[in-house]
Amino acid sequence: MPFPGTGKIWMNGKLVAWKDAHIHIASHVIHYGSGVFEGARCYATPKGSACFRLDAHMQRLQHSAKIYRMEYPLDLAGWQDAVLDTIRANEMKSCYIRPILYRGYESLGVNPFSCPVDAAIMLWDWGAYLGKEALEEGCDVQIASWARMAPNTLPAMAKSAANYANSALIKMEAITDGYSEGIALDVSGNVSEGSGQNIFLVRDRILHTPTIGSSILGGITRDCIITLARDLGYTVTETVVPREALYIADEVFVVGTAAEVTPIRSIDKIKVGNGRRGPVTEALQRAFFDVINGETPDTHGWLTYVYAEESSLRSPRGTPAAARG
Ligand SMILES: Cc1ncc(COP(=O)(O)O)c(C=O)c1O
Repeated sequence: MPFPGTGKIWMNGKLVAWKDAHIHIASHVIHYGSGVFEGARCYATPKGSACFRLDAHMQRLQHSAKIYRMEYPLDLAGWQDAVLDTIRANEMKSCYIRPILYRGYESLGVNPFSCPVDAAIMLWDWGAYLGKEALEEGCDVQIASWARMAPNTLPAMAKSAANYANSALIKMEAITDGYSEGIALDVSGNVSEGSGQNIFLVRDRILHTPTIGSSILGGITRDCIITLARDLGYTVTETVVPREALYIADEVFVVGTAAEVTPIRSIDKIKVGNGRRGPVTEALQRAFFDVINGETPDTHGWLTYVYAEESSLRSPRGTPAAARG
């Protein structure tokens, strides 16, 4: 099935038809992976379409760009407006949001400085990343033979296109071996993250997740889950997680914008807990989806409503679209 694109893509401030959104083959990003991007979601909540943690995503995009010395003339509010405008222009109710900054067409060589920094925002429909069934049943994963990047090689905190060469190796290996996902270790052999998700384990009702020093992407869903878990009274530690801690955990789950909150039922064919979604995972899933589905008040100000008539329904701490520049 061809890629289910939407009508229009935002490219350097202009809306371009999906079929015309081309870049030249000599663009630097194609040859050297010189792009940084984001993946966010807009949900159709009962109060209207709302982007989840749009500010945090756009801030991470700016941080990724800063690490790679890429400058672009949009501030945080400008980025958020560009995303909201693109969703409105496409009249989307819910969608996956992919902003990208990349080194474009000027010269080819490792040095990217002479190449322009260009930007685009694409939207498309994207359901449950690891399958709807996996949200309840859990999925089977393996520990990848590929490690995550060493800290002094490619910066894991930057969501850069180059890092996804490593993710793709992890994912291809997992699929080839009959698993849904691969969990990578860091270069010290401790648990890092999945190819596109952060990981949590639960032992004796305490949650543990690898630290930012284990070559993970600082996930926005990870941050939400830490916050929601603490709201629910659980203790959460960000710590070094040895591989074997996963095997003997009561529960393991992965989180991310695409994967949302997905339980893991086996690792390397070793059953996790009783081999199905555990009670802590279920409680956190519910807390997460309740915010998205508008079942609980958005007390953390995580939702930004897209359409003007809905912005007045925002949570008190949310920023109304109309109030920005
Ligand atoms: C490598 C990696 N780790 C973690 C995550 C989860 O991050 P977030 O929750 O911000 O989507 C992602 C998803 O983008 C990812 O690609």
